[in-house]
Amino acid sequence: MKIIKFDSIDSTNSYLKTHENEYENFTFVFSKFQTSGKGRENRTWFSEANKNLIFSYLIKDKNLISKYKAISLGTATLVARFLEKFKNFDVQIKWPNDIYVEGKKICGVLLEGNLPNYLVVGVGLNVNQTNFNDEYRTPPTSIKLISKKDSDLDKLSEDISNFIVKHIVKKDFEKKTYDFVCSHNYLLNKKVKVNNVSGVVTGVDKNFNILIDDKPVESREIDIL
Ligand code: BTN
Repeated sequence: MKIIKFDSIDSTNSYLKTHENEYENFTFVFSKFQTSGKGRENRTWFSEANKNLIFSYLIKDKNLISKYKAISLGTATLVARFLEKFKNFDVQIKWPNDIYVEGKKICGVLLEGNLPNYLVVGVGLNVNQTNFNDEYRTPPTSIKLISKKDSDLDKLSEDISNFIVKHIVKKDFEKKTYDFVCSHNYLLNKKVKVNNVSGVVTGVDKNFNILIDDKPVESREIDIL
């Protein structure tokens, strides 16, 4: 495991994708700020400088790459388990890869890569930021807004990267991810529309696809993902 730190960079995901051939499995890249932070679906990821955890890690291990379907929700689950264990937060997983606390988004994950060669897993975890402008699609929260305490970002980056590496290599990583998502599913029984299928969420399957009971629902009630 190797940790690289930047004060500012375009995007930690983009950096690792461009330089993946220079780095080994479990290289973590942290940055205090991103000038072009990326979210899912071509959205921008905004994060105030020096306030939050912004990082990506590289996976090159073939066995882990073969579990790629579990990596995104699995990473969200590991960060959520960390917040549950060490901060006592009541966490939920919002498919496909967000963490929610008190009904608000605290963390997002962006998986990129080139199968079967490598994966880059990007994590944006809101930590000490307390003001969020209206540019956010879903209402955000942060560790500080929940716990009322500042966190030491250097210690948190070390603890979270160690926690991820320790647990992601375990044999039961996929099963633990599945069990945790089933028991902490933010969308369970909520009405959604995913890829033009509308209905009520009944769970996720073993390949981490969302399960929807597609009885017709009123479009105005739908949370579009
Ligand atoms: C999402 O919720 O849409 C995913 C957000 C992922 C943001 C992180 S921050 C670190 C890494 N670098 C990026 O440009 N994006 C991810």
